[in-house]
Amino acid sequence: TADPADLLVLAEKTAREAGDLVRDKREAVERMAVAGTKSTPTDVVTESDTAAEALIRSRLFAARPDDGFLGEEDGSVAGSTGVEWVVDPIDGTVNYLYGLPQYAVSIAARIDGVVRAGVVHNPASGETWTAVSGGGAFLDGGPVRVSSCSSLSLALVGTGFGYDAVRRARQAAVLLEVVPAVRDIRRAGAAALDLCAVATGRLDGYYERGLNPWDLAAGGLIAAEAGAVVSGLRGAEAGNDLALAATPGVAAELTALLERLGADHD
Ligand code: IPD
Repeated sequence: TADPADLLVLAEKTAREAGDLVRDKREAVERMAVAGTKSTPTDVVTESDTAAEALIRSRLFAARPDDGFLGEEDGSVAGSTGVEWVVDPIDGTVNYLYGLPQYAVSIAARIDGVVRAGVVHNPASGETWTAVSGGGAFLDGGPVRVSSCSSLSLALVGTGFGYDAVRRARQAAVLLEVVPAVRDIRRAGAAALDLCAVATGRLDGYYERGLNPWDLAAGGLIAAEAGAVVSGLRGAEAGNDLALAATPGVAAELTALLERLGADHD
């Protein structure tokens, strides 16, 4: 079986190379072009998303040709080794499009369906978060830990919104109740970085409905390894219905509030 530490080395090297590619492409133009749209007219893809995913795919398959692959842009490939790579070439594509520095390359390795290694690399800031299951979480090689916040009313909480208007209306209704219950809200625009922010104590909690596996896989592991509670609502695992990451002192209160508001359904 594959060693998660070896998978992380490959993932990190690949994420940095892809990060350099997308940052260079962004810096080369004043205005980035939209190359296409996906679920809605605001769910955009740039040529950098496609180019970065192709690069990541070719590097991973060159090193490990029989692994599986699940990417945001180009679908999935079934493997035969039990290892599956879960890849978001640019998480925070809208920020990238607008020239905002909050975007990241996210690469995770699942072994037999469980995330065991993950890297989130922000090429604009140069910051790189890494984790291997059971080994703690790191930012640029140094250990990171969640904040000591233990009260929802004092918590800085991140969230995000989907691209679908009906879902957004519900998310806004939930937010209306969350805002008065917390210190403040941030909507930074890249789920993987929000999860890493919880890991680093830059946020005390984060929740979002509608995340895809590639948004959640690496950042979720990093947050959990930094001591965050990472879960869904009503006993579920973190996933598309709802993903929450929070300090142990904030998680129960945030979970109870989101359950009461029905934040896991539209
Ligand atoms: C999106 C970002 C955003 C979140 C959306 C995601 P993308 O990913 O992570 O912050 O709110 O749910 O889809 O489309 O930029 O890769």
